[in-house]
Amino acid sequence: MSHRIAVIPGDGIGKEVMPEGLRALEAAAARFGIDLSLEHFGFASCDYYVEHGKMLPDDWFVQLKDADAIFYGAVGWPETVPDHVSLWGSLLQFRRRFDQYVNLRPCKLLPGIKSPLADRRPGDIDFYVVRENTEGEYSSVGGKMFEGTDREVVIQETVMTRTGVDRVLKYAYELARSRPRKKLTSATKSNGIAITMPWWDERVAAMSESYPEVSVDKFHIDILTANFVMHPDWFDVVVASNLFGDILSDLGPACTGTIGVAPSANINPEGTFPSLFEPVHGSAPDIYGKGIANPIGQIWSAAMMLEHLGHPEAGQAIVDAFEAVLAEGDKAVLTPDVGGHGTTETLGCAIAERIAG
Ligand code: NAD
Ligand code: IPM
Ligand code: MN
Repeated sequence: MSHRIAVIPGDGIGKEVMPEGLRALEAAAARFGIDLSLEHFGFASCDYYVEHGKMLPDDWFVQLKDADAIFYGAVGWPETVPDHVSLWGSLLQFRRRFDQYVNLRPCKLLPGIKSPLADRRPGDIDFYVVRENTEGEYSSVGGKMFEGTDREVVIQETVMTRTGVDRVLKYAYELARSRPRKKLTSATKSNGIAITMPWWDERVAAMSESYPEVSVDKFHIDILTANFVMHPDWFDVVVASNLFGDILSDLGPACTGTIGVAPSANINPEGTFPSLFEPVHGSAPDIYGKGIANPIGQIWSAAMMLEHLGHPEAGQAIVDAFEAVLAEGDKAVLTPDVGGHGTTETLGCAIAERIAG
């Protein structure tokens, strides 16, 4: 059976790391006899917007809905398109319309990468952020009044539904239960955000009764960010609302030395719609064109995609390959963010060769 993968490089370094993501994907597919059919799309990028005046063609949903997975690079080019226009016109549409309500973001200190936190070694930081991905603070409910006057008012509502919160909590509890430490941490702010967040806490507590094996704690988001830095070893699975999860999933990887390695899986667990795999990072205009972006975030996302498609051994082979290349520490191969003077391509090729065996 062939897996149909929709490939969307997007903008900036998305266009540089995607070829390396595909190189790793194809190496793993060849080694494990997996049949992939790749379809390439230029939309969902600011280049497409400049040409067409919109981020997506009118029939994008039909074009993508039967894919088995979407493999995305990064999107955003604020010089040509305002970020809220490009992001709400692409990635955030995909997450919402394809009901990818879980954003699973591993955070792991890898061999050969130095953490900016003193004395932290591989094994010390190894947790998942489970981010709610379709509602919460990312809502389109609100508006502006009295625009352009001194009385200007802007309102943007947080929307949390019982279905929406319970389903992502269930995913997080199940994940925690499947891991040796069986520990779940909830990100809250129920002291200050006094309607939605106390209710989030209630839903976390209500569900804990169905998972007696899982130990649960919670922290307000302010001290939780501090604890990510001071005690990253405390965490196993961290569940958070959309915005809190967004922040934690940049901070976590920063504690592991670089956000360039961090992957994410935007999952529709029911499989009604395709899930989407992309690095955590964005289009990085500051380094675009230099060929120095770390491709591991894209490559690790390919591994998560293969696992999702039912090929965990192929996903693991990719992870083993980049861990081995990082552990070797050849500075001519590694990108500058992890202490090397190599390029996106030298690192991507070294990983693909290792996957091929
Ligand atoms: P960013 O993630 O693009 O970059 C932040 C910093 O991290 C930059 O200094 C960049 O050089 C560095 N960096 C990022 N990826 C790297 C990699 N692979 N290797 C080495 N260094 C890397 O975040 P930003 O600057 O806030 O956003 C730039 C654009 O990307 C904006 O348009 C933003 O909206 C968009 N964005 C998109 C996504 C996405 O597509 N999922 C995510 C975040 C930001
Ligand atoms: C991410 C990004 C997006 C988000 C932006 C670009 C809208 O930061 O995937 O983490 O906030 O979800
Ligand atoms: Mn983010």
